[in-house]
Parts: sequence; structure tokens; C-alpha cells
Amino acid sequence: MEQSGDEWQMIVYVNGKWVDEKEATVSFLDRGFVFADAIYEVLHIYNGNYFKLDLHIERMQNGLDKLRIPFRAQDLIPVFEELLTFTPGLEEGMLYVQVSRGTAPRAHGLPVLDEQSVVAYVKPLQPDRRIGEQGGHAILVEDLRWQMCNVKTTGLLLNAMAKQEALDRGADDAFFVRGNVVTEATSSNLFIVKNGELLTHPNGPHVLPGITRHVVIELATKLGIPVKEVMFSKDELLAADELFITGTISEVSPFLEVEGQVIGSGQVGPITRQLQAAFRQETAL
Ligand code: PDD
Repeated sequence: MEQSGDEWQMIVYVNGKWVDEKEATVSFLDRGFVFADAIYEVLHIYNGNYFKLDLHIERMQNGLDKLRIPFRAQDLIPVFEELLTFTPGLEEGMLYVQVSRGTAPRAHGLPVLDEQSVVAYVKPLQPDRRIGEQGGHAILVEDLRWQMCNVKTTGLLLNAMAKQEALDRGADDAFFVRGNVVTEATSSNLFIVKNGELLTHPNGPHVLPGITRHVVIELATKLGIPVKEVMFSKDELLAADELFITGTISEVSPFLEVEGQVIGSGQVGPITRQLQAAFRQETAL
């Protein structure tokens, strides 16, 4: 189905069928709906191509294996390719995909189901690059999430609540603090720059192993900027020279204020700008 004119009609892939968004439904007994028993991914499309498709597939497979959902993430690639054909000429967009364990009468044990529920769609994206250009403001929120933040399940309620708290308080995002350790933002990883070095929370149960985080670490290393994957405290965050977040949608976005306290010079710093430029080149946008 071709898209024409200004009106965007989304075609959604649902369990082997291509349907209009109004008809894209799953059962009320879907495990994703009832238990957040589902893995999802968000991919950025630059110049009509998926950015780091292989890394997203690998992370998705890790998540599916962790939840013991018997599904091969690799099998989604033809679906992703077909989704792109519905949006010819798409320059920039995003793909959302979610795989749940499937549909079964509600019971806590993990049923072994022949069919998983798969939902995927692509839509054009005009990300708001205001924060990327000018820098954002953040609040701090206690990290009450679980010990499996490295698994990309659809159980995002605490992320959503933290984001809303930020918006309610006139900020752009919230940074999670577990004990005294700063972990990540609501849908992005977090980096600080101190004395020319880049610091970010190590991968593990308390942060998502972000694809953008991975790319930025590689770029920094190439540029000769030392990277330390170590924990840092709230005080270290507030005393940072520069601060930025990374994510599929947020890309590399500086933050200039946290809880009303100015970070560094209060301007977007040189290392952040350098990494933003390198990242833009990588995406060739
Ligand atoms: N979020 N941390 C969290 C909690 C996230 O939800 C995300 C991504 C990231 C960054 O990961 P990546 O660089 O692979 O996008 C870190 C996606 C974009 C979302 O939920 O919309």
C-alpha cells in the first residue's frame, strides 16, 4: 500500500498480517498486555536505512532468551524490510517492534506457546532536536526499577512516571539515582565528562545496554577521548564539566542543568559537540 499526500496511514504488521492501524489489535489475554511479558525495540531510520540493525536484533535475541520466549529475532528482518517498502522515499523514521510470549489464559507460570504475538510498524520521524542543539534540563528521581533494566521489556511504567514528573516540573527528562549512584535517563543512557574523560554507568542489571551508548563509546575511543565505564554519584554528576544522554531517538543530547544546578559552564561543551558531530557522520544524515 502506497502512502500519498499529507495524510499518513500507518500499516501495521500483526502476527503475519499487514493491517491498517485501526484493525491492528491483539487479544486481551495477550501476555504482553497482562504481564508486560514482551520484548521491544526501537530503531532509527536514517536515509531509508535501519541504523545498527544487527545490534538491535542481537539485543532483542538476548532479551527473548532471558525471558525464555522461543522466538528468533533474526526472522523479523524480512518484516522490517517489507515495512520500509510502505514508505518509499522515507528519509528519517523509526521502527517499533514488540514480541510477546503470546496469548494464553491468565496464569503466572510461563506457558510454552506455539505462536508469539508480533507487532511492528514504521513511522516518519521528525525528532525535536532542540535539546540536542540547546541542551536540556533534568530532574533526579529515585530509581525504584527492578534488577533487569538490561532487558528491554515493555514494563516501562516507572520510566513513564519519571518522565511525567520531569514534564510536570518543567524539565525535559529525569535521571534515575539508585542509592547514590546515577544510572540512566528515562529512555536514554547517561554520560558525564570530567577532566577530559568520559564516564558512564557500566552495563549490568541497572541500565539498558544502549546501542547509541555503544556507538558513542566506539567513536570516543577513535577520537582519543578516554572512556571509563564506572559508577558515579549524584555529587559527581552535579560537578561534571559536561553531561549528555544517548539514545535511538535522543541521539547525543546535552543537558545543562540538573535540579536547577548548572552543569559545567552552562553551555554545551566541546567534547559533547565533538561526539555529536562524529555521531551525525556515522548516521550520515
Ligand atoms: N529507549 N535506557 C533506556 C531505559 C531506554 O529505554 C533506552 C532506549 C536507552 C537507550 O538505548 P538505545 O541507544 O539502544 O536506544 C537507554 C527507546 C528509544 C524507547 O524506549 O523508546
